[in-house]
Formats: sequence, structure tokens, C-alpha cells
Amino acid sequence: MENTIENLLHEVKSFSAKTKQDLESFRLKYISKKGAIGELFENLKQIPADQKKQFGKILNELKQAAEAKFTELNDKLQSSSEEKTNIDLTLPPVPNKVGNLHPLTLTKNRIIEIFERLGFNVADGPEIEDDWHNFSALNFPDNHPAREMQDTFFIEKKNAEGGDVLLRTHTSNVQIRLLEKQKPPVRAIMPGRVYRNEAISARAHCFFHQVEGLYVDRNVSFADLKQTLFHFAKEMYGKDIKLRLRPSFFPFTEPSAEIDVTCLICKGEGCVVCKRSGWVEIAGAGMVHPNVLRNCGVDPEEFTGFAFGMGIERVTQLRYQVNDLRLYSENDIRFLRQFHTEGTA
Ligand code: PHE
Repeated sequence: MENTIENLLHEVKSFSAKTKQDLESFRLKYISKKGAIGELFENLKQIPADQKKQFGKILNELKQAAEAKFTELNDKLQSSSEEKTNIDLTLPPVPNKVGNLHPLTLTKNRIIEIFERLGFNVADGPEIEDDWHNFSALNFPDNHPAREMQDTFFIEKKNAEGGDVLLRTHTSNVQIRLLEKQKPPVRAIMPGRVYRNEAISARAHCFFHQVEGLYVDRNVSFADLKQTLFHFAKEMYGKDIKLRLRPSFFPFTEPSAEIDVTCLICKGEGCVVCKRSGWVEIAGAGMVHPNVLRNCGVDPEEFTGFAFGMGIERVTQLRYQVNDLRLYSENDIRFLRQFHTEGTA
């Protein structure tokens, strides 16, 4: 038995492994329970008691030598396979590029956030609209020149019910849809895409985005309108912003106003953006016309309301100083990549 052990010790020590398979056969042959060394341990039981101690000792030495060899070969194989891959494992990882939100979406989300805190819900409506919801119910009389204020894309002239089908020219259609199905109090903002038949340039586009606001309840006054928009402007553009209302006209509001804020670029001193006036227009607004309330089945003697509408592009332009409207829809990655927000890389 002593000889066998010595032979095995020699074999183990001189073993070399080129591949993982070599190493595995080494393990099976010597170290595993059914391997050669395991077998010798079994045989130890038959050895006379007085010799057991001596054999046990050299057998243990063999076992340890085999295990040490296994570890040594394993380490060697592992490090050589790392070398072969040619990868520098110490390099920092390349971060995954995740997308970011479109600047118009960022602005829309911010607007929603501000008005939600004032108790406004978010409402939605169709972009393909009928004449009633886009014009007639909003107090635009037939053939009234006010319809020409907005160059409309018509889809179908005179459909089955006798009305035109068109791409909505403003989000005011959602005012009507809301008031038709919900009794006041109604307090909502309505963001969405609108379409106008205009030549595309840096300052105009055939589609853009608006957020309209509507608040109808008992005793809603012009002061409420003014304060709501003032609060919005301060939240959006900063505490030092000033607000100015100019008389205006919309068929669906009376009285109507256009809302200006101090120019953010020149801080009111006058620059190209504000055409040297120190003010930029951000919204149209007014008290909901009694005819509009009546058209939706709401009694104007009992309820009053205000409405306002603003272009998301315009707000975004002031926020990020973008001066060409076309950039928003060109999908140029160099432009879009600049609008990182928290949560995006
Ligand atoms: N709908 C108007 C427009 O598109 C904006 C507006 C909305 C004005 C609500 C007053 C009240 O020009």
C-alpha cells in the first residue's frame, strides 16, 4: 500500500492541466469520493490497527497534496482565460444611454403640476372635431369673421348631420365637451395638440400645443382669473415676474384679455424677443361668455367662469430660450438631447 501511495503522490505532483476538462478528470480520478484516494481511505479499514496510524498519516498527506494541486491548476486556468478575452476588467462601465423627455412634454408636465396643486383636473378631448365643438358652441356665428382668425384644416365639409369635420384649431373644444357632460363646479386644464393651416416658419407651424384652463362655479370672478394666472406665472418663471392684462377679443369670452409677462430674456428692459417692449404674451383669457354656458346647458344666471389658453411652445421657448418653432418637430437628436431632467441620464 505504501508503494501505491507514493506512486499516486508522484502522479499528482507531476500532473498538468491545459483545459478545464483536464482539471475535471484530475478531480474525478483523485479527489472525488470514488477516486483513487477515496478508495485508499476505504482500504484503510482492513489495515491492522498498529499500522493504521502510519498509513493514515501518509494518506492524508497525499490527499492534501492532491487538493493543493487542484487549487493551483484551477487558479492558473482561470487567470489564463481572463488574459485570452483581452478585456480590461478595471475599466469603468459604459452607462446605458436612456432617452429623455421632449421639451414640450417637460413644459406640459410642469404646467399640469402647477395647476393640479390649485385643484385643476386634467381633461382630454378629440383632435378630429366637429364644427359645433370647435366653433358654434363657442359662440362663433356662421360666417362670422372670427372663424377666419384661425385657418382651419377641414376634413369633410358638411357631414351627415350637416356640420363640418375638421382638425381642432384650439383646445377650447374640450371646454364644451366637459361642460356638456359635467355640471359645475368644473375646474380643469386641457393640454393637447391643435392644427392651423399656416405656412411653416420659425414663428408659425401647422400644428402646435395648447393648454386651456376652465373654471366654472358660482361666483367665479375676473379677480380669480387674474390671481390664478399670476400664481401660475410666478411658479413657472420666478417670483419677480410681473403680469399685465390687455383688452382683447375672443367670441367665447367676455370680457377678454391677453396676458403678458415681463420678458425673461431682458428682464423687462427691451430686446429682440419682446420686440423692445419688455413684455411677452403668454396667454389669452376671459370670462366664459353666457352664450357658451347656455349652449352647454349651464345657467349663466347661476354660474360664471373663466377660461384661458396658452401655447406650450411659447412657454417652452421662454423657459429654454429656443427661438425656432420648427426645432420641436424635427426630431434632431442634437436638439432633443439637451433637455435632461432628473431621473434621466
Ligand atoms: N382658444 C384661444 C386661442 O386658441 C385661446 C383662449 C382660450 C382664449 C380660452 C381665451 C380663453 O387663441
